Amino acid sequence: MTIVEEATDAHLLRFPDGFRWGAATAAYQIEGAAQADGRSPSIWDTFARTPGKVDAGHSGDVACDHYHRFADDVALMAELGLGTYRFSVAWPRIKPDGSGPVNPRGLDFYDRLVDALLAAGIEPMVTLYHWDLPQVLEDRGGWTNRDTAHYFAELAAGTVARLGDRVGTWTTLNEPWCSAFLGYASGAHAPGKRDPRSAFEATHHLLLAHGLGVEALRAGGAREVALTLNLTRVTPRDPTDRHDVAAAELIDGLQNRIFLDAPLKGGGYPDDMRALFERFGAAGVIHEGDLATIAAPIDLLGVNYYQPSLVAAQVGAPPNPCYPGSEGVIYPDQQTPVTAMDWPVDPTGLGDLLVRLSQDYPGTPLIVTENGASYVDTLVDGRVADAARIEYFDGHVRAVHDAIRRGADMRGYLAWSLLDNFEWAYGYDKRFGLVYVDYATQARVPKDSALWFREVIRRNAV
Ligand code: FCB
Repeated sequence: MTIVEEATDAHLLRFPDGFRWGAATAAYQIEGAAQADGRSPSIWDTFARTPGKVDAGHSGDVACDHYHRFADDVALMAELGLGTYRFSVAWPRIKPDGSGPVNPRGLDFYDRLVDALLAAGIEPMVTLYHWDLPQVLEDRGGWTNRDTAHYFAELAAGTVARLGDRVGTWTTLNEPWCSAFLGYASGAHAPGKRDPRSAFEATHHLLLAHGLGVEALRAGGAREVALTLNLTRVTPRDPTDRHDVAAAELIDGLQNRIFLDAPLKGGGYPDDMRALFERFGAAGVIHEGDLATIAAPIDLLGVNYYQPSLVAAQVGAPPNPCYPGSEGVIYPDQQTPVTAMDWPVDPTGLGDLLVRLSQDYPGTPLIVTENGASYVDTLVDGRVADAARIEYFDGHVRAVHDAIRRGADMRGYLAWSLLDNFEWAYGYDKRFGLVYVDYATQARVPKDSALWFREVIRRNAV
């Protein structure tokens, strides 16, 4: 290290030793090879084929063709210095019939991927469910069917049996809020249903799946077990107005507490959320013993954060279809810059969220499992100069550092995403990658943000 560097280093914010740096992806968003080696259709294949559901009629049929290019992609991760790679396994590859015996050819792919990662010195972190339910299970009710939770536990057992000798860290679900409320209430995501009762039933069965999955993973020898939620800071517009405060409490319940309390506090759902289960006729799915299963201890809570939420009360406002039961709540403009998704940019939302989690749910270490931004990227002479994305990452990494200073037990930060990919209902037009993907040629080009991130990782500091 030169003297100049040492001098500059004094201004850096250092992270704790052993802090994990990496990037995340999800199977349906990058793999492609939709029919390879016995994979069956998932709800996202069906949804993408339904006219009007995904922008420009895009689908994950080919995506980043990662299924065939994983070795090059792992080499790229190594070049970027990633220490951890979070990816999901595709249930329809591993269990094309949804339940029953595993399809060894489907598991072979993840076997090769894990070996390649380990050979490159990168720690694999496996998510068992990132939204690609086998369509055959949706045909039997999907997440409104209690059996799906048991099938999920079988998926967990079959996967850990094959990969558990080399994969230490396991996540059961990614963002069950999206599966339940975007999938079954607003219909913006697969399977595209619009029925609040189904959304609450799905919520409970997803959490039951999580609990049963934790048991199966532990029985299979998993070293570290996590749950990843999409959480945010919900602020009332006027903190002195009791109606605004009540509105914020309700949205906090539907976004955060409904998924946090049962797994992390025990004792089930908070009273206001329990009341919504009742109101929508979904409380019957909560059976005796479920809440103890759901409360199985976990080792790590994965936090996905993109944007904060600001709410206010307004008499007569219709409910947001994503939040059934939220009549009378509006979402005022946040007066911040926004990303290409129109999502407000405010890193203090992440810092405050992490501190709140560490206070309200003490004892569970935290890891940011997704954070990132979509901007309009252009490839010019082989370079993507994505200054806005660097600023986004920089602000949020600093917010994580600030949260550590304020007492949060932070174990890592994983950027969303490694590659530009299939952004669900938005198709390929919204780019979140550290690495640009030219979909016509499948060429990968690390953006300026990737080079910036490599330096952060190298120094373990920002
Ligand atoms: C999260 C999802 C991830 C990606 C990002 C932008 O909600 O987990 O797959 O779509 O948003």
